[in-house]
Amino acid sequence: MAAVRDLSLTARWMLFLAVFMSWQYSTQASRFLQSIDTSKDGGSKIIRTELIHRDHPLSPIAPAEGTTFSERLQAAAKRSRDRSLLMSRGRRLSAFTTPFTSESFEYVISISFGTPPQLFTGMVDTGSDLVWIQCSPCINCYTTHPHPVFDPTNSSTEAYVPCTDTNLCIPTNFGVTPTCEANSNYCQIKYSYQDGSQTEGVLTNETMTLPNTAGAAPVASNFVIGCMNNNTGIFENYDGIVGFARGPLSLPSQLSKRGDLNVFAFCLVPYTATTTLTSSLIFGSRNETNPLGLEYTPLLDGSDTSFYWVDMVGVSVAGVDTGIPSALFNTSGGVIFDSGTTFTQFVPAIYDSIKQSVANVIPYPIVPDSSSSLNRSCYDVAGVQNPTWPTMTYHFTGVSSAIVDFELDLENLFPQEPNTTVFCLSITSADSNIIGNIQQANHYIEHDVDLKRIGWISKDCTVAV
Ligand SMILES: *[C@@H]1O[C@H](CO)[C@@H](O)[C@H](O)[C@H]1NC(C)=O
Ligand SMILES: *[C@@H]1O[C@H](CO)[C@@H](O)[C@H](O)[C@H]1NC(C)=O
Ligand SMILES: *[C@@H]1O[C@H](CO)[C@@H](O)[C@H](O)[C@H]1NC(C)=O
Ligand SMILES: *[C@@H]1O[C@H](CO)[C@@H](O)[C@H](O)[C@H]1NC(C)=O
Ligand SMILES: *[C@@H]1O[C@H](CO)[C@@H](O)[C@H](O)[C@H]1NC(C)=O
Ligand SMILES: *[C@@H]1O[C@H](CO)[C@@H](O)[C@H](O)[C@H]1NC(C)=O
Ligand SMILES: *[C@@H]1O[C@H](CO)[C@@H](O)[C@H](O)[C@H]1NC(C)=O
Repeated sequence: MAAVRDLSLTARWMLFLAVFMSWQYSTQASRFLQSIDTSKDGGSKIIRTELIHRDHPLSPIAPAEGTTFSERLQAAAKRSRDRSLLMSRGRRLSAFTTPFTSESFEYVISISFGTPPQLFTGMVDTGSDLVWIQCSPCINCYTTHPHPVFDPTNSSTEAYVPCTDTNLCIPTNFGVTPTCEANSNYCQIKYSYQDGSQTEGVLTNETMTLPNTAGAAPVASNFVIGCMNNNTGIFENYDGIVGFARGPLSLPSQLSKRGDLNVFAFCLVPYTATTTLTSSLIFGSRNETNPLGLEYTPLLDGSDTSFYWVDMVGVSVAGVDTGIPSALFNTSGGVIFDSGTTFTQFVPAIYDSIKQSVANVIPYPIVPDSSSSLNRSCYDVAGVQNPTWPTMTYHFTGVSSAIVDFELDLENLFPQEPNTTVFCLSITSADSNIIGNIQQANHYIEHDVDLKRIGWISKDCTVAV
């Protein structure tokens, strides 16, 4: 059964890639060619890059050698809790102040700016838009960063966005009115984080290069970034922040405006593999014929259009509906798909019901969570030959059918910690409803901001996408 399923998935993947590789010239395509140099690989319409988990050795914020799995989980749990708190608090702040502290990120990517390209490591922030890097000349630059500060004077393509630019230099992009210094035409911007960290600088229009495992590195000109030289607060061990939210200045939105890269997708490796493997991040073309067979749910506006809100309507455990009323999922405009949160979190009414339904079908003894701060539901299978676990399915409103299902496998539900017979459910109780990255793993998840939908299909993400 599994083999048959894998084969058909592989076949669909081949088809999908073949579709991506076939380049068709159109008005849009030629506009795209001007800005993305794909000449070296025949012009494929896909950018495939690596999403590096913060705990992976390639990450500049990887934990110290010798950090145990359980210590990593506890640190992740703290970040998840802080983030969920900030997400619920963020709604009461200015919509444009990113709701996060400058430390609450889970993935990094490599990205270059300038001509010739200067390489940086940016934190992926699904809660904010702006793409910014620390930039010279420094007024206040933080000192721990993996690469030298961006030097615009060493780039032949640096072009400052003028204060008179009525598309870019406007309050709706930043929450505050950008300023123009006397005798200067620069669009000066300020971006705040909820822990009080602030970054200030100017808006520039630069050439951006992404590492691309699908072919030649695509070079996009006229990419709008913040060149930030007055940075105060907690920014450490990274060069800047790469906004992945739904607004116009985020990395995916700027790529999508170029015509062909109108969707982005990722396939996250399971949490247990995050220190050894990287995940795939793909920018590609929407295909209305849906060759991958993705299940789509509409993206909602929620209470803050930055986030990827969806309409979740129920949960089944071992194929049986838990009977949780769909209204409970709509605490503040829906449920958020957030790769920047590790643990899935539900409000107590939902969490308790899921926990009970799971307990009803698992025969193994319940034991306290050794990570007491997590307070998960844990089961000890000591002495059990081949323990079996229930499946779980999340149900959502569908785009072309009434309901679509998101299937969770063992890695999504009980990621196994080394050297223990205890398995703990990777869901915690909190004050927001968020589907985190442990549960998004092993799914190919496509984000389509223009058509306002998210689509997915189960996939082994440890095999290159
Ligand atoms: C400027 O770029 C050149 C060519 O890449 C490089 O050799 C040089 O070190 C750079 N200078 C600075 C100050 O970054
Ligand atoms: C970026 O700068 C170039 C060169 O000055 C200019 O032609 C282009 O219109 C600018 N693009 C944006 C989006 O500001
Ligand atoms: C740098 O940022 C700090 C904090 O936001 C601000 O008080 C200061 O005026 C800024 N300095 C300059 C030269 O803009
Ligand atoms: C979409 O997929 C179908 C089926 O695989 C393919 O025939 C078509 O060319 C694709 N369209 C685009 C725009 O990629
Ligand atoms: C969620 O609740 C809000 C406020 O009651 C309502 O406006 C919105 O339509 C609901 N969303 C869904 C998807 O049911
Ligand atoms: C753990 O969660 C249960 C409900 O699931 C709650 O009754 C208990 O107080 C929690 N314990 C701690 C230490 O938070
Ligand atoms: C598991 O236990 C073995 C033997 O005690 C030890 O060598 C290994 O480092 C442990 N693995 C982890 C990930 O803690």
